[in-house]
Amino acid sequence: MRTLIIGANGNIGQLVCRQGSALGMDLLGMVRNTEQVSSLEKLGTRAVVADLEGEFAQAFDGVSKVVFTAGSGGHTGADKTLLVDLYGAVLAIEESKRHGIEHFVMVSALDADHPLAHFPKIAPYMLAKKAADDYLRVSEVPFTILRPGLLTNNPGSGKVSTTFASSSAKKISRENVAACILAALASTPATPGRALDLVDGDQSIKELFR
Ligand SMILES: NC(=O)c1ccc[n+]([C@@H]2O[C@H](COP(=O)([O-])OP(=O)(O)OC[C@H]3O[C@@H](n4cnc5c(N)ncnc54)[C@H](OP(=O)(O)O)[C@@H]3O)[C@@H](O)[C@H]2O)c1
Repeated sequence: MRTLIIGANGNIGQLVCRQGSALGMDLLGMVRNTEQVSSLEKLGTRAVVADLEGEFAQAFDGVSKVVFTAGSGGHTGADKTLLVDLYGAVLAIEESKRHGIEHFVMVSALDADHPLAHFPKIAPYMLAKKAADDYLRVSEVPFTILRPGLLTNNPGSGKVSTTFASSSAKKISRENVAACILAALASTPATPGRALDLVDGDQSIKELFR
């Protein structure tokens, strides 16, 4: 059962590829250029070269599950946010529908249901995340939406919280997000799927996705 990782060369994508390959999972990492193929193969993951802004339907051949952890990043403008985080995600959802994908795991953002409640500077990003999540919710593709807070490179604790106080730090380690993605993939998505806010916390990731 093959899982396509969209955004495989990213920080979270690489963690998923390394940890998933170590677990013996059949992963296919989607990367944007050929130079990224060998570094992914060193993590034990096969790669397909494709761009969300171009043709990428071929990446779905033989795939049963999809993880979307791509993002245009904070260094780009709202135009790329729209093209990658929203339009790219929507096209990936449509492709998943066409291919009968069994489980689509979306990496969204904390509190994306309230996109205007955040700093105005990130409102376009939050709106893109919410719109992509909403598109997935009504797509008929079985899904899990993971909504991490501010990402850190701290070691993973294996524990998270799905609730957060407005005064709290609202951070989560990328290793914990990767562990949540792998745990979600190992679970059967309920219908309708779940959307989970995620920050570092006290609940075992294994328990959360059991
Ligand atoms: N930063 C935060 O605090 C935060 C908080 C909540 C949620 N998130 C979300 O977490 C996810 C991943 O985080 P991260 O730290 O792993 O980010 P990252 O390291 O920036 O990884 C994003 C990946 O997306 C890929 N990508 C960008 N445009 C693409 C395109 N047109 N086609 C295919 N791939 C493309 C990038 O490719 P290249 O490697 O070629 O550039 C990169 O590998 C994103 O969805 C982000 O929105 C982030």
